[in-house]
Amino acid sequence: MSRPLIAEIDLDALRHNYRLAQALAPHSQSLAVIKADAYGHGAVACAHALDDLTPAFAVACIEEAQALRQGGIDKPIVLLEGFFQREELPLIESLGLWTAVHSEWQVEALLAYRPGRPIPVWVKMDSGMHRLGFSEQHIEGVWQRLLDASDRVCDLHLMSHFATADALEPRYFQRQLQLLNDWASALNAPTCLANSPATLAWPEAYGAWNRPGVMLYGSDPLEGANDASRGLKPVMTLRSEIIAVQELGAGEPVGYGGRWITPAPSRIGVVAAGYGDGYDRHARDGTPVLVEGQRSVLAGKVSMDMLTVDITDLPQAGIGTRVTLWGRDASGAVLSVDEVARHCDTISYTLLTGVLPRVPRRYHGAGLMPDAGASARYNVRL
Ligand SMILES: Cc1ncc(COP(=O)(O)O)c(C=O)c1O
Repeated sequence: MSRPLIAEIDLDALRHNYRLAQALAPHSQSLAVIKADAYGHGAVACAHALDDLTPAFAVACIEEAQALRQGGIDKPIVLLEGFFQREELPLIESLGLWTAVHSEWQVEALLAYRPGRPIPVWVKMDSGMHRLGFSEQHIEGVWQRLLDASDRVCDLHLMSHFATADALEPRYFQRQLQLLNDWASALNAPTCLANSPATLAWPEAYGAWNRPGVMLYGSDPLEGANDASRGLKPVMTLRSEIIAVQELGAGEPVGYGGRWITPAPSRIGVVAAGYGDGYDRHARDGTPVLVEGQRSVLAGKVSMDMLTVDITDLPQAGIGTRVTLWGRDASGAVLSVDEVARHCDTISYTLLTGVLPRVPRRYHGAGLMPDAGASARYNVRL
């Protein structure tokens, strides 16, 4: 491998974060959300690392579930958006998947299908996100029709998604939760409601199942961190090296458009990582990086294959010096992906899922499958 850019994936940290989610909600089952290739970390590798801990996984679509089955994952997998076409039902059955239903056409398709054994179904209610799910007007009727079809569907759960579980202002979240609690008791339904922020901050939202996603990867979705979220460990470390150094006088523009101008004589480290790797081009001057454990900042616009950092105050830094773009540096220093995301006017989710296939993933930790075929299977990309 020639280019020094790499995404190190710490499977021990993934297991630690999963255990934290589980410990917060010991009376719920926590399924591991590993959609979008486990938020960019590699779904098959992450699923194997969590396989002995989690009772189930969740993905967005059947292709993601299929990749997991091909990668040797036998645990239940929930399709969070259900099926996109009724023709998927035989495959859902043969792969042993659980499916969400959020629309009338899906209910009709399920009721018209004659499976060999009933398919576990999670009924999605729109409690205020206004994205997917049955409204209050329809939920009872849908629930009853599915309940009556016990030869075709089983294990009915009520699921819903929170729009503002990560916000400091709790009123809308509480309104959603109240509505869901009312319907869960009216239907006598086991629930699956809590995403990461609710898992971290809202025990009231815990149900038979919880659905933590981003927290498993060490990102803290809360605007105001709490004791639980401070215990998360970064799973992905995106690191590279300085491949060239520019010694510049004061007043010199750096990079495309000359956005950053040296305020004084400066040393600029050119790092092998760019938006062609998924590093966000919206990163502002001042976005933090770690240069051999020391904090430094982005100076100039991100290009496709490179970015530039100010190493004026780091005289020891030169060609070959390690640069951590987020994650844990070899010295133990941590730069959270959440902090980087704030400098890019985005959220950690887009940075993590945005790391492109050009960046090799290297897996470490106890969760790694020991057999020789594992690394080949881990390279199953969606
Ligand atoms: C339906 C659903 N459940 C759970 C999650 C996990 O959310 P988080 O990553 O915030 O924990 C998501 C994420 O987008 C989702 O769409």
